[in-house]
Amino acid sequence: MQVQPVSRILFYVLGEIMAKYAAITGWGMAVPERVLTNAELERMVSTSDEWIQTRTGIRERRVVGPGESTSTLSTAAGQRALERAGLEAAEIDLIILATCTPDRPFPATACTVQANLGIPRAAAFDLAAACSGFVYGLSVGTSMIRSGAARNVLFIAADVFTHYINWNDRNTCVLFGDGAGAVVLQPTDEPYGQLACVLGASGKDEDLMAVDAGGTRLPATAELLEAGRQYVYMNGREIFKLAVRGMGDSSLQALADAGMTTDDIALVIPHQANLRIIEATAKRLNVPMDRVFVNLDRYGNTSAGTIPIALAEAADQGRLKPGDNVLLTAFGGGLTWASAVIRWGRP
Ligand code: ACO
Repeated sequence: MQVQPVSRILFYVLGEIMAKYAAITGWGMAVPERVLTNAELERMVSTSDEWIQTRTGIRERRVVGPGESTSTLSTAAGQRALERAGLEAAEIDLIILATCTPDRPFPATACTVQANLGIPRAAAFDLAAACSGFVYGLSVGTSMIRSGAARNVLFIAADVFTHYINWNDRNTCVLFGDGAGAVVLQPTDEPYGQLACVLGASGKDEDLMAVDAGGTRLPATAELLEAGRQYVYMNGREIFKLAVRGMGDSSLQALADAGMTTDDIALVIPHQANLRIIEATAKRLNVPMDRVFVNLDRYGNTSAGTIPIALAEAADQGRLKPGDNVLLTAFGGGLTWASAVIRWGRP
């Protein structure tokens, strides 16, 4: 009789118990109460409601107030996702928080959320992929479940960019808002959740959009703060072109990997940065706008938060039916891009 190595037996046993997919069983979102309208921005910088709406599609955005931060928004969104999934806090064994605006440089804001939600002993870490953070994190959470390393994952994506905005810079201050979205991922052998995913980055283009000061390369000093180096800067026109290309190319690749075409997709949920970027991407994919979810008119660009906030609103509005295939696509700082085909619902 041939003796099987222990590793091969272990691999076989794990293969039998490991799930093939990670269904999205809960969802939730949270935004600050404070609404900042285009009319208010007209009084702050040289801009107009007409310019902002025609160039970006944004009418208003939400801005954190005292006591609010990435962790408070993430906690509220996470709580709703847990309730929707029907899970107790103690059943979560991994928390991932996609953000590039954490409460503090360390510890990870995911640990603050863990404490706020009373989740005992779960692993918790932050993941930084800017506006692509939700699709990156969905891929990591799904992989952890599929490998057997985690069972019930609370995955949150949130950003509070308004603290990094120079409110005298009309090029950036009209674009961003704050918000969080969350999902619960659970193992299943049925094809739900992420079916295909394409991730990419181009670090050589990192300076097209960044915050320079406050990290280890340029620790914050009085001089740097005086020069405004703690604020977001970007080359909007260049980002615009690269976003349309990055979202389009990665979407087509994700569809091909899933063995689908856009005809199989019930709803496209794109990163909400600019309505013209969304329309150009939809045109490239040959998808009519009535199959594209848009809510940036009310929230602006909440960075990693845009896709899960849109996903939660689409679900609550009945625009997602069990079994629907959904295309998620994002682009952001890094530069990063990410697209995924997911199947909505649970077995
Ligand atoms: N109000 C009035 N005028 C403005 C404003 C404003 N808020 N902002 C810029 N302008 C002016 C510019 O100064 C420029 O004036 P000039 O011609 O005298 O120099 C003029 O408007 C046109 O500027 P453009 O850069 O050509 O305007 P464009 O049509 O490209 O729109 C925008 C600018 C909205 C920033 C667009 O390029 C964009 O959305 N880019 C993507 C950037 C982005 O979304 N970044 C977020 C993170 S990355 C991501 O999430 C994908």
